[in-house]
Order: sequence, then structure tokens, then C-alpha cells
Amino acid sequence: MAPVPPTADPSLDAVFAEVVGTPEGRRDPYERYRLLREAAPVYASGLGMVICTRYAECQLVLRDPRFGKAGGGLEEVVRNRFGHRHDYEELAELLSDRRSLLFLNPPDHTRLRGLVSKAFTPRTVEGLRPEIAAMVDGLLDEVVAGEVTDVISDLAFPLPANVISHMLGVPEEDWPRFRSVMNAAVVLLEPVIGDEELEAGLLAQRELVEYFSQLVRARRRHLGEDLLSHLIAVQEGGDRLSDAELISTAILLFGAGFETTTNLIGNGLHALLTHRDELGRLRRGLESGDRPQLLRLAVEELLRFDSPVQFDGRHAFEEVDLAGVPVPEGGDVVTILGAANRDPARFSDPDRLDLRREEGPPLSFASGIHFCLGAALARVEGQIVFGKLLDRFADMELASAEPEWKNRITLRGLAQLPVVFS
Ligand code: HEM
Repeated sequence: MAPVPPTADPSLDAVFAEVVGTPEGRRDPYERYRLLREAAPVYASGLGMVICTRYAECQLVLRDPRFGKAGGGLEEVVRNRFGHRHDYEELAELLSDRRSLLFLNPPDHTRLRGLVSKAFTPRTVEGLRPEIAAMVDGLLDEVVAGEVTDVISDLAFPLPANVISHMLGVPEEDWPRFRSVMNAAVVLLEPVIGDEELEAGLLAQRELVEYFSQLVRARRRHLGEDLLSHLIAVQEGGDRLSDAELISTAILLFGAGFETTTNLIGNGLHALLTHRDELGRLRRGLESGDRPQLLRLAVEELLRFDSPVQFDGRHAFEEVDLAGVPVPEGGDVVTILGAANRDPARFSDPDRLDLRREEGPPLSFASGIHFCLGAALARVEGQIVFGKLLDRFADMELASAEPEWKNRITLRGLAQLPVVFS
């Protein structure tokens, strides 16, 4: 791989700033990613981190043990980014007990992930297909043909929320309440947020901790068949999850399964509706071909084409040379997954949507030890949704030429997706 000279090119930083900080950049990041990748695929930004836009380096950083999580969990992340804007004591109290997989390094991560994986298995997920299909049917039964449906509020948001709530054994009467709480809580993952969003995000975190503390207490008294009960019961070599770990894991599973899968359904359907030839090819394929395989490939391609998670990153535990760019010990590297997925060195004709593409996985679920634990669930939900939409409706059309994108980039998704089904 050709070495890349170090750069803190203000014009590249301006492009990056457009992606993270402007509505236009967030709406259409791909052209800007291309500019960054072509100018300097790994570059030391004047903003203080190294930014990667090629598949090879993004994958390396996510897999290489010289990189990891900065430590300190959400508490640290929030303090570093927003601490100066908030009463830190209150933050520390709120977040200190969090032991989330997402923020741990080995050996703590290895231990916790091993325990959680024993309760959250691919078999659990496969066994859920009939229930997920029934939930999708229930939501699609409400769609009125010929009228405008907002796919985000009526399908993409409630489906993953209901699936993970059902799995965790969150009582059904509490489901609606969590939609807004979760929406507010995930904002803390964004690189740039306003004061009001920060306050709302912290309040939402507090509500989640309180709610799941109570739920864990209740489940300890009466174990059931749900995932939370399995997490309580799981053991390995006499080791178990502590209360703090149970609460953090429940919140993580709950949160991780929400907006990400919403964005897979929303971004995916948007891509299909703006590529009518591919939509038609998929429809014809499903009528005559190998249905499970076609849906599997289609969902992989939709994940690649417009990734629900665009940004990830790691912290360097030692000095590392990354394609000629020195990353200092303690330095932060941003891996732009959405850019890696459009890297022409990895995917042929990467800006083309090709629902039969078989070129290996995109980086949408990351890579290495933090590879998304819910990937199988998200894929199954996507396959069922797109399969059912095509089975049940002879046609579907965007009802707005320019649907509105959320003002976010780590989790990229539409605020609304108005569609007319017939
Ligand atoms: C399309 C939907 C989804 C996408 C694109 C996605 C993406 C990701 C990504 C990129 C990571 C890695 C984060 C990192 O490197 O720090 C991750 C981690 C994780 N995801 Fe997902 N996710 C999705 C759905 C889900 C679902 C449905 C669940 C569970 C119900 C889930 C649970 C998790 C968990 C627990 C982790 C942390 C794993 C670890 O740190 O070891 N995700 N996800």
C-alpha cells in the first residue's frame, strides 16, 4: 500500500467538518468521503485525530490489538467531549457504574462478551423468525394502500424496538415510552450535539438506568424465558454477570438494537425506491429464484450502500504507523465505515447499488472483537421486512422527492420516509 504523507490540510478538514457539522454534508456524505479518500485516505486532521476512509485501514484499526477503546466507558466519552459544558459530578454519578461491552477492552471485554454471547445466540435469533414475521405483518396490516405512510414511524422504528423489548421481556405497556427515551439517549454517540440535546440525552440515560435496575430486580425474583432472565442465569466457570453488568448489557442491547436497525430499514428502503431497476430485479428474483439467498444478498448490499452506522473509532495503545501516517500513543483514530464501504479498492463500482453483489461483508457491523453482537438479528429483521414489503405490495413510490435526514452522522438515518404503497 502506498505510504500517505502526514497532512493537516485545512481544505480536507473543511470537508470533514461539512460531514459532521452541516445538514448538506450529513445528507450527502459520500461525495465528501470520496474527496477525502482520494486526497489522503489516512490523514492526521488538524482537529486532533487520524481519519481513515479506506476499507483496508479501517478494518486494520478495528482488528489490531494495538488499538482499542479509550477506557472509562460512556462516562469518559461524555466527560471528554461535553464535560466542560456540564456539572461533572452529576455525570460521573450517573454513568460510573456502567460496564458496557462497547467500551471495554480485553480481558474485561472478553469475559463479558463470552457470558453475554452464551445468552444471545444465533439459535435464539433464528428461532425468532416466526415472531418477527408476525410483528412485521401486524405493522403492515395498518398500512392503507394509496395513502401516504411514514415508513420510519410506522415500521422502521417500532419493529426493532418491539423485537428487542420482547426479547428482553420489557412489558408491552412500557414499549411506547422507550421510543422517545432511546431517541434522546443515542444522541450522546454523535460527535457534535447542542446543549439541549446533551441535557435530554443525559436525562434519558438516567431513566434507562433506573428502569432496567428495577427490571433486573424483578427478574431476579421470578426468572422467565426472556433474554434478561437468561443473562441472569448464565454462568461460565462459576462466573456470572454482576448487577451493574446486567443493567449495562440490557441497556446496550436495547439501545444498540433500536436506531441502527431502524436505519437499516429506512436507508435500505430509500435506496430501493431510488433505484427502481434494482427494486424490480429483486421483485422478479423473489418470484422465481432462491428467495433466502436473494434476500440475504440484498440486505448485505443495502447495509453496504448506505450504512446505518457511519462512524466508528479506536484509541492507539502505542505509536502505530498507519499507511505512513504516525498515530501517536494515546491518539484517536476515526474509522469512517460509510467511506470504507464505498472504497473502490474493496468493492467494484462501489457507488452502484447491486443487490446481487457477492464481494464479502461491508464494515457496517465493524470488525474484530467488537463486531456487532446483534448482526444476525438485524440481518433477519431486514430480510423479513424487505421480503414482506415486496410480497404484500405490488408497487411502492416515494411520496417526497427529498425525504428529510436526521441531523446525525454516527447513526445515519431518515427522520421521515413518506411512501405510497399499492
Ligand atoms: C443494522 C443494524 C445494526 C448495525 C449497523 C450495528 C452496528 C454495530 C457496530 C458498527 C458495532 C461496533 C461498535 C464498535 O466498534 O465499537 C456494533 C456493536 C454492537 N452491537 Fe450492533 N448494530 C446493529 C444492530 C444491533 C442489534 C439489533 C443489536 C442487539 C440487539 C446490536 C448489539 C450490539 C452490541 C451488543 C454491540 C457491542 C459489541 C461489543 O462491543 O463487543 N446491534 N453494532
